[in-house]
Amino acid sequence: MKYVTTDLTHLLHKVDLSSYKERVAEIDKAIKEKTGKGNDFLGWVDQPVDYDKQELAKMKEAAEYVRSNYDVLLVCGIGGSYLGARAAIEAVNGLHHSKKPEIIFAGQTLNPDYVAELLDYLKDKKFAINVISKSGTTTETAVAFRLFRELLEKNIGAEMARKSIFATTDAKNGALRKLSGIEGYTTFNLPADIGGRYSVQTAVGLFPMACAGIDPEEVMRGSLAAREDTSNPNLDENEAYKYAVARHSLYADYGTACEMLITYSPSLVQFGEWWKQLFGESEGKDGQGIYPTSATFTTDLHSLGQFIQQGTNSFFETTVHQNAYVRDVEIPYDQNDLDGLNYLSGKTLSYINDKAFQGTLKAHTEAGKRDNIVLECRKIDAFGIGYLFYFFERACAMSAYLSGINPFDQPGVEIYKKNMFHLLGKPGY
Ligand code: PA5
Repeated sequence: MKYVTTDLTHLLHKVDLSSYKERVAEIDKAIKEKTGKGNDFLGWVDQPVDYDKQELAKMKEAAEYVRSNYDVLLVCGIGGSYLGARAAIEAVNGLHHSKKPEIIFAGQTLNPDYVAELLDYLKDKKFAINVISKSGTTTETAVAFRLFRELLEKNIGAEMARKSIFATTDAKNGALRKLSGIEGYTTFNLPADIGGRYSVQTAVGLFPMACAGIDPEEVMRGSLAAREDTSNPNLDENEAYKYAVARHSLYADYGTACEMLITYSPSLVQFGEWWKQLFGESEGKDGQGIYPTSATFTTDLHSLGQFIQQGTNSFFETTVHQNAYVRDVEIPYDQNDLDGLNYLSGKTLSYINDKAFQGTLKAHTEAGKRDNIVLECRKIDAFGIGYLFYFFERACAMSAYLSGINPFDQPGVEIYKKNMFHLLGKPGY
């Protein structure tokens, strides 16, 4: 059984998969032979096979050092240089645990209150830094790194600080590469042919995961399995391509330009953030694209549920439905039954969550008239998260190519940066 299967039986609009078969096979060939738009950035396609095994061994060794010597790992990065690691760590480790080191994120904001609070929090902590930036010049990351590096040097001295800093960046270029060379930091390379939002299967994601106690090889095994499953050019047998075609058809054939990714787990909120960047930055250009948004059920059924059920019908839902969990919890029997819950005693939370899913799906499709794509997914552990990352990467490339869009550039992101540099008086702007 595949780790993820795409169920299109809850679509209200008819998606004619057969009319896309030929196109999908052509695009699949272009992905494999690297002949499509943005083909310089297709390194992620074979990354689960080709990844640098020596680099991974180096990461594991460094992660062991971090795990044995520090209370906190501060990861400085933004966008593709941050979201995947955070998504994986929260999905696999959960939100409430006492595992060491604590993983904290910075460099994803310029908010002074957030940074000042973190500077205070880390004042008395034994912390290491993993600074991640492909370009090495991203303002948010560079500013945070300067501030926290200074704190680290103040806390433990320049020499020890050098040993506590790990930099993930381009193998040759950029300010961070240069700085790391001069300071002698341990560095990890970001392959030149893998863009930020496709980089979670490199040191960008794997080193923070390893520091958080997640086996990076297991994550890569999951991505490898997904690569095998999603490399089939036959649309009828490729679940990622089925998903890509369904969402593309809802957009291109029926004009639904917003997709809501639904999960049933608070630990997957950050996974939703990663997914939003992947699809939003890949497809939202040339005046095209499906706006990606996300929600967590059943939590958000008590806030957004009303809108989803009866508000403007401008979106479709894609639900990641887990049909297995790492752990489960049983509802106890209570002699007095004052809360009236004994009808559930002996039942598990997975059972109840599943009934909530079924009831919601029925309500949203039958009464709400929302198209629903359901991705049936097995348990989300290290293997599962690796699988999901690759599954969506492959689906995203297919989906963008179906619209004739280059999935691997982000020309619009540069405009705000240039304006900000100009306003800040950066030389040359
Ligand atoms: O996907 C992308 O390319 C972006 O989100 C980048 O990852 C983000 O802007 C950070 O860039 P860098 O890694 O160069 O600091």
